[in-house]
Amino acid sequence: MNINTKWADHCAPDLRTLKGKTVIVRADWNMPVVDGIVTDTSRFDVSVNFLEHLSAAGAKIVLLTHFGEKGESLLPVANHVTAKLPFITFTPSFDFNELKKIAGELSEGKGILLENVRLFKGETDNLTTLAESFASLGDVFINDAFSVAHRAHASVVGIPEYKPSYFGPTFEREISNLTRALTPTTPALLIVGGAKISTKLALIKQYLDQGVKVFVGGAMVHNIWKEQGIEIGTSLYDDKYRLPEGFKNNPLLVTPVDVVLSTGDIVDTTAIPKDGIVVDCGPKTAELVASIVAMSNTVIANGPLGLYEKGWLKGSETILTNLSQAKVTSYIGGGDTVSVANSLHLLDKFSFVSLGGGAMLDFLASGTLPGIDAVTK
Ligand code: 3PG
Repeated sequence: MNINTKWADHCAPDLRTLKGKTVIVRADWNMPVVDGIVTDTSRFDVSVNFLEHLSAAGAKIVLLTHFGEKGESLLPVANHVTAKLPFITFTPSFDFNELKKIAGELSEGKGILLENVRLFKGETDNLTTLAESFASLGDVFINDAFSVAHRAHASVVGIPEYKPSYFGPTFEREISNLTRALTPTTPALLIVGGAKISTKLALIKQYLDQGVKVFVGGAMVHNIWKEQGIEIGTSLYDDKYRLPEGFKNNPLLVTPVDVVLSTGDIVDTTAIPKDGIVVDCGPKTAELVASIVAMSNTVIANGPLGLYEKGWLKGSETILTNLSQAKVTSYIGGGDTVSVANSLHLLDKFSFVSLGGGAMLDFLASGTLPGIDAVTK
């Protein structure tokens, strides 16, 4: 693992030095919207303090964020942002001549918010001309979007090629906390869930290699059971994927001892019927995980332990509730995990809650991210 230790030298400069400068800020305001209203504003809320200070310091601000998965307009998010931060105006233009003119005419303390960056041609391919155009709108770049730093996109890794670049406070908080979670003091436990084990193998291996126990839940455990010769019925598994040699027998690997079937029945893992569909882990498993948590110094959790989309949350709820009460250093992250913790009002009971999903996983697997390397190089 090649841990990027240079990040601390690249934290946002004294805001007073930014008076009169145009600061391009990359935020991640990719938030859920229902009927035009943002339903979870956490990702915006963490930006408010910084942006208010930037404005008060006399900086001019150019804000960039992505939003949604289907190329939707940022409008609902922009409505929320401009209502809360009246010094920001939404500028839904794709014409850089026009955007440059508007940015150039900003007065101190004012800012603009561009359209969803993923609607600009070349954002996801990190097109040089787009990165250069974004960069031409300001003097300095501050990346405050840790949760998208695993994407080598123009607004993440491209802009730092052209402007002095720094991490914003949200980004800094994520790296400083998650750097501690990279190499936890053992005994430690990683709790990981989700659908595809192939996407999380590097992460799991990183921790197993350090002597950290790893509890695997969610559909990804079905691949392990399949290769161990345990019946999984007709449960979801990744049939194109084979685990690396020796992985399934690693003594630090912990898997559920009982499961919930789609019928609601709870059976031991050794008794899954041929037509059974596993949808969650059972109560004996929650007790087993609680006993390992009780013996750990540090616990890291990311990923749903049951079929989250269909409402099978009990396993995650029980395990997170227990973790929130344990006397351990705890790091949680991932959209589904944070949403379960939030619905149980537990968010303030963990040592650190990451706003990153994929970014947290990739960072913990490798010690850095494309968006970190771009700023520190
Ligand atoms: C997220 O929601 O995890 C981040 O905003 C990244 O979004 P993406 O998966 O669409 O890149």
